[in-house]
Amino acid sequence: MAFNLFVLPGIVVVLGARSSRSWITFREWEWMLSGFQNLEVVTHWGEAYHGYWVTDVNKFNPRFGNAADLKALSKAVHDRGMLLMVDIVVNFAASLSTETSAAALAPQNLTFKKPEHYHPLCLIDYNWQDSVERCWMGDGYVPLMDYNTENAEVQNTLNTMIKNLVTTYGIDGLRIDAAKHVPKPFWTNFCAAAGVFCIGEAYQSDVAPLFPSFLADYQKSKSLDSLLNYAAFFNGVKNAFQVPGRANMKDMAAAMTQYTAQFPDPGVLGNFLSNHDVSRFRSVTASDSVAYNALVWQHLFDGLPITYYGEEQEIKSGSSDPDQRQALWATGMGNYSTTTKT
Ligand SMILES: *[C@@H]1O[C@H](CO)[C@@H](O)[C@H](O)[C@H]1NC(C)=O
Ligand SMILES: *[C@@H]1O[C@H](CO)[C@@H](O)[C@H](O)[C@H]1NC(C)=O
Repeated sequence: MAFNLFVLPGIVVVLGARSSRSWITFREWEWMLSGFQNLEVVTHWGEAYHGYWVTDVNKFNPRFGNAADLKALSKAVHDRGMLLMVDIVVNFAASLSTETSAAALAPQNLTFKKPEHYHPLCLIDYNWQDSVERCWMGDGYVPLMDYNTENAEVQNTLNTMIKNLVTTYGIDGLRIDAAKHVPKPFWTNFCAAAGVFCIGEAYQSDVAPLFPSFLADYQKSKSLDSLLNYAAFFNGVKNAFQVPGRANMKDMAAAMTQYTAQFPDPGVLGNFLSNHDVSRFRSVTASDSVAYNALVWQHLFDGLPITYYGEEQEIKSGSSDPDQRQALWATGMGNYSTTTKT
């Protein structure tokens, strides 16, 4: 399939085309679209530079603009024959407290203010999917208060929010953050309310044989149209193209065969070499020729090639947080140039 997701916070870029139109996305739509309101304090872990500490999905992050800016962006994107995809965070709200009493919630900048809007506090046991869906991410410094997505009021608020967002701003697709932390039936209704293509993030560093079927269940159950292809990434890409590494193309072939059989529609999976949660590809692949081979796989194999910003500059730094999320221009990351390689 010839369409390409270009992940870039802060500016509009596009590669590829499908039906004369192209997709773009960005790892953090607040950066680009003045998205959801974030925690606005300096925490133990610093500021919400990554944009994932959302507090209120009904407010834009004023650091990145306002409603008029988003409309202008959407128009500019569509005027170029491109489509607009946004990153959506609706699994939790960031807080400085684990208290979910009405009194503790009242003074915070939150979408949801009732205790029943949140799951009771518990820490995730990643071996138990029910716990992954109902317990909390984050930590004692910045608890991520898990929305009770089985609650009708929570469902109605989020479904209405996404419907309005998509229609008001002409959004063409959603990249759904932390999809595996929310029960599947929620996504079925949420994506139906949005009425646009939904690609979900179900991050799993597990290489167990059952892993592709875990991912495939989201597509089989029609909860999500597509998944970021962590099956190919962990079972294939890393084994085949990381240098130094195993250089094992057999693993790659096995992973491809295995997941292609599991997904009803493997042709819409998002194939990536890196993103903001894993090491930048060129920071773990020292060989130019192997890196180019990986790009060939990514662009020729069935699926949607996702280009993470900076890959086009062959940025070699960024093996761990926060460097893999660094600003491209301000820091001169990877010797980025606006006059060469562009
Ligand atoms: C809540 O919003 C106010 C007004 O925008 C802001 O000054 C304050 O820092 C916010 N609090 C948090 C914890 O984000
Ligand atoms: C930037 O360029 C210099 C000189 O060519 C090089 O030594 C350095 O590694 C480059 N930095 C990055 C992050 O690629």
